Parts: sequence; C-alpha cells; structure tokens
Amino acid sequence: MNWKEDYRRKVSKPTEAIKDIHDGQCVVMGHAAAAPRLIQQTLADHCEDYNDVLIFHMTTLGDNPCYKPQCYGHFRHVSNFLSANSREVIERREGDFFPAYFKDVPAMIGNDIPCDVAVFQTTPPNAEGYCSLGVSCDYAHAAIRAAKTVIIETNEMMPYTHGDTMIHVSQVDHIIPCAYRLQELAQPTLGEVELAIGRNCASLVADGSTLQLGIGAIPDAVLQSLTEKNDLGIHSEMFSNGVMDLMKKGVINGRRKTLHRGKAVVTFIMGTRELYDFVDDNHDVEFHPVDYVNSPLIIAKNDRMISINSCLEVDLQGQVASETIGIRQYSGVGGQVDFIRGASLAREGKAIIAMRSTAAKGTISRIKPFLPQGAAVSTSRNDVDYIVTEYGVARLKGRTLQHRAEDLINIAHPNFRPMLIEEYERRFKCKWKGNGNV
Ligand code: COA
Repeated sequence: MNWKEDYRRKVSKPTEAIKDIHDGQCVVMGHAAAAPRLIQQTLADHCEDYNDVLIFHMTTLGDNPCYKPQCYGHFRHVSNFLSANSREVIERREGDFFPAYFKDVPAMIGNDIPCDVAVFQTTPPNAEGYCSLGVSCDYAHAAIRAAKTVIIETNEMMPYTHGDTMIHVSQVDHIIPCAYRLQELAQPTLGEVELAIGRNCASLVADGSTLQLGIGAIPDAVLQSLTEKNDLGIHSEMFSNGVMDLMKKGVINGRRKTLHRGKAVVTFIMGTRELYDFVDDNHDVEFHPVDYVNSPLIIAKNDRMISINSCLEVDLQGQVASETIGIRQYSGVGGQVDFIRGASLAREGKAIIAMRSTAAKGTISRIKPFLPQGAAVSTSRNDVDYIVTEYGVARLKGRTLQHRAEDLINIAHPNFRPMLIEEYERRFKCKWKGNGNV
C-alpha cells in the first residue's frame, strides 16, 4: 500500500487513539521534551474510564497531567528517573521507582517493563513516509518494536533530527497530526560558585577531548569555562544550550573525535526553543538509541573521553550518592556510571564528578564522613575518579582511604572542615596535618 494511503487511514483524534489503551495494560511514554502531550492530556481528561493502567516515563518536563490528583487510583507510574513532578507522585505511592541504568531500558522494554502501548512524539512524515524521533531517540525504537499498539503525535514543531531516528508510518497504528510548542528546560543562572567549579573542571580538559555532560546546573557552568579550548567533541547521553553555544563558536567541532568524527552524538536533548531550532536538520548532531550512546564499550572508543556529572553527596571514601538524599529518591542513576566506566576505559580518559561543596543554602556539607542511612551509592568508591568542587580538584583513583579523605577535606567548604577533620583523626588515628600524613 502507498504510505500516504496508509497514513490517511491511521490519522486519529486523541480520543479515538486512547480507546486502544485498556485496563491492566502498560503504556510506555516518550521522554523529556518529546513526551506526547496530547495523549497525556486526553488520558488525564478521561482518567475515570481507566483502572490500573501502568505508565512508564523517565524525565518529564513541565506539567504532566497524568500526575494530577484526579488521576490517582486510575494510573500507576513506574520510572527509573524522577524529576520535580514525578517525585511527588512516587512519594504518594501512586507508583514506584526502579533502579536501572538508562542504557538498559531498551532491553527491559517488552520484558521487565511490559509494553502494550507505545506513545511517542515525532515529526510529520517526510516524502518517503519516515518520521524523525526529533529531540529524544533513547528507548523509542525498542518500545515501538515491542508494543501491540503504537500511537504517534506528529508535531510540526518537532525538529527533524538525524542519526538513527527514523520510524516509518507503516510501523504505527494511530497518527495524531498536531503543532504545539515542545516543553523547554529553563537555563540555570550561574553564580560565582558554579563558575569556580567550571574553571576547576576546565583545568582537566585538554584540547581535542570528547565530552559527556550530565544533568543539572554544573555541566553548563563547565561549558562556559571552555571557550578558550580547541577541537572539542561531544558523546553524551544528553546536552542543553551550552553545547549549542560552543558549537556555534566552533570550540566544539568534533574534528579530533575517534568515533563519529565531526558529529556531536547524543540520545536526547533538553533546552530552549533556540536549541531545538539548532538541531533541526543539522547534520552535525546525531541522535542514537541510549543502549548505543551509553554503552561503556562505545564510550571508550572516544580517545580523551571526559565525563562530567554531578552528585548530591560523597563520603570520605569517595562513595558517590547522586540520586538519593538519604532514603528519599531524588532522581536516578541515568548514564552516570556508564560514562564514568567508559571514560575510565578510554585512552587518556577522565571521569569527573563536580558538585557545589554545600547544599541547602550552605547549611549542609556535601562531603560527609558517612552517607546518610538509606542513601544509595550511585558511583562506587571503586569507580570514582575525580571529585571537583569550587575549592579544587581531588583525584581519588588509585589513592588510599587516608589520602582520599585528606584530598576530599581539602576541597570541602571551610566551615565544615573541622567536623570532617575530627572524623579523619578518629578514623586514621593520627593528627590532621593537611595533606601528607601518609
Ligand atoms: N542534602 C540535602 N539536600 C541536598 C543535598 C544534600 N546532600 N544535595 C542537594 N540537595 C538539595 C539542594 O540544596 C537542592 O535543593 P533546592 O532545589 O531547594 O535548592 C536540591 O537538593 C537539588 O540539588 P542540586 O545539586 O542543585 O541538583 P541539580 O539540579 O544540580 O542536579 C543531581 C544534581 C545530582 C540530582 C543530578 O545531576 C542527577 O540526577 N545526577 C544523577 C544522574 C546523572 O548523573 N546522569 C548523568 C547522565 S545525564
């Protein structure tokens, strides 16, 4: 059948498409800025018609109508990465969190994560009937392959991106033509602390490095400190406006990349409309599925690979808690550990965890004698490499427990060093002399 005929037959209204979602089923939703807004809203409007529908999402930007209290009891949510809005719904026990690396999600879909219905946002079809997955490639192919029913919202405002992003009209059951603004990620305001962290990280970045940038304000601060570098490349789970700015300046050009030379490789992006316009039909940026982008073996093929991620706290052994505050699940591990391992395997690679030395307006030290009870270790002390704060750089890899504690105390906030030194002296049975006790 001609794809245009097929397309016409499949065009649906959201209210018709959701009739193919049934009680007891699991729906896998598109990710981040590519979340299917119309189906989310229509499901929420008709939540009374549903019981026990499980919805899988990862990061949701802005408002997700399915999280609203009127939907409680009708939908349950499952996720391996929480954001501001989903945190509340999980805390209210309207769903649950499962720990998993982002790269493993495609293999889990259809197995550990049931997938009766897949709902994604794409571009309208091109002349051959192919739609681009736009700003989020991540687990879309896996879900579209596994689902019994596939619904796509073909949004005219979704950028047409390149890489492994094509799905064909013949692969889907319902097509909802639409035009709405993608959700945007507000850009962080950077203060002196963030910029100092950025400068400390930049001291570890040589010309010709390939970068991965994690989620949060710190990675953007690092990018602002890299304007004098040359020939940087990108191989990253995600990126935001900071990468676009450096690509426009020619600082990031991928010229010395040893894999996908000349291309910025990513699985999803979140930023402002300017970023979405930048990636539209831009052959310098390639989107690939997350099981490829986040595979440590693929990451390691990038010589001079540098991963830069953030965390919530770290103990004196170098155990890194990036996703929990005590027992409270705050976000998820995402690709942090995969990029740390990939960068550590790469020729001349470095793995950086960068964080502010304090949290909660300076009242809490992020460097702690012990992680709090219930905290999950995201990056183990065996994987950790560099820790960076606004006070400097601590290289932990290959260092003894005592050296690690010394180096971490030296980059802790001065207000909290006495408390850390007290624990140091108790643990190592010696007086604090700064560096060089052993
Ligand atoms: N104790 C108590 N509160 C803490 C805390 C601690 N140890 N650490 C942070 N907080 C608070 C902060 O004060 C802040 O509160 P506020 O919003 O009221 O100001 C909040 O928790 C968020 O902390 P912040 O460090 O600003 O978060 P961020 O937006 O920069 O994100 C991570 C940092 C670690 C949550 C984020 O990078 C993450 O989820 N990482 C894991 C996944 C990952 O690295 N993926 C990489 C590939 S994309």
